[in-house]
Amino acid sequence: MHKKGMLKEDALKGKTIIVTGGGTGLGRSMGKYFLELGANLVITSRKMPVLEATARELRAETGGKVLPIAGDVRNFEEVEGVIREATKEFGDVHGLLNNAAGNFISPTERLSDRAFSAVIDIVLKGTTNFTLALGKKWIEQKNPGTILNIVTTYAWTGSGYVVPSACAKAGVLALTRSLAVEWAKYNIRTNAIAPGPFPTEGAWSRLLPGDLQKKFDPAQHVPLGRVGEHQELANLAAYLLSDFSAFVNGEVITIDGGEWLKGAGEFNHLEMVTPQMWDMLEAMRKGSST
Ligand code: HXC
Ligand code: NAP
Repeated sequence: MHKKGMLKEDALKGKTIIVTGGGTGLGRSMGKYFLELGANLVITSRKMPVLEATARELRAETGGKVLPIAGDVRNFEEVEGVIREATKEFGDVHGLLNNAAGNFISPTERLSDRAFSAVIDIVLKGTTNFTLALGKKWIEQKNPGTILNIVTTYAWTGSGYVVPSACAKAGVLALTRSLAVEWAKYNIRTNAIAPGPFPTEGAWSRLLPGDLQKKFDPAQHVPLGRVGEHQELANLAAYLLSDFSAFVNGEVITIDGGEWLKGAGEFNHLEMVTPQMWDMLEAMRKGSST
């Protein structure tokens, strides 16, 4: 059931949605579902050949309208250009999915300042660039809008070895909650999703390079014992960008099978205690109370 689309067929009909990083991975999967729900889709990232190939495939798979536009989220003028082209093709833009990201694992003391900036500029600056450019336009034209930011659970827990990403995602979360209040008066909603592990080439190749994939099976850290299905995330994203979620604002929804709470709960490691050991402990307790 969780591999199926959840919303009504026309849930996003007539809406134009921009997905940053929409040519690959989770951005592609979410975009595909938006098309199935009737949206016009704009996908943008740095690599035009990747975007064009994805656009061709998505058109063939869904019959929907997809516009690929090359642009670097770090560059404000390019971001304004993407919005201009999107508007020229489809008219008003209704939704923005800030999904583009950069990430890699490294001990922090090994990073150069350029390495730090490489990630922060894509994730935090890229998100503020798109949010500001489109938000100003919506406010000026008195149009409603919906912003959805992709963060992750270490936006609030922090995490070693991905520190630039943790700092940037924490900033995106602060942006989400701040604008949810400040821009509500303009009828602009701002929400976030914090995914746990969802297999993609982009993330897996950078976060679990080489043998790490065999050594650290991400599913093992998830209480539900598996990684996420792209459709599960797409269902949530489509809901948050649709008018069905009209009263949801400033929320960050975690979709991680319980992963981060498992790490947080002081005694969660007791799952390693076998039923026989629990029997023994119970017998000891009963023995000592008589
Ligand atoms: C240390 C690194 C590095 C690495 C690059 N650098 N990779 N340092 N370890 N693995 C350093 C370089 O040496 C350089 O510094 C600086 O970073 C900039 O490198 P460039 O290659 O010039 O950067 P750029 O071309 O801008 O590419 C950005 C990138 C790249 C982030 C490095 O990986 C990229 O394009 N990523 C986009 C897609 C992506 O990352 N997807 C995964 C998202 S997954 P010096 O000083 O040498 O010049 C995700 C999951 C979150 O976010 C949560 C999971 C649960
Ligand atoms: P991905 O396929 O590597 O997606 C990242 C996208 O960002 C790529 O399409 C990339 O395209 C684009 N991008 C990078 N730098 C850019 C720039 N400067 N300008 C414009 N676009 C840029 O990885 P993914 O796993 O699908 O990740 C998608 C989102 O989910 C990210 O926000 C990530 O942090 C989040 N997330 C993923 C997981 C997971 O398990 N996969 C878990 C938690 C959160 P170009 O290279 O063409 O620019």
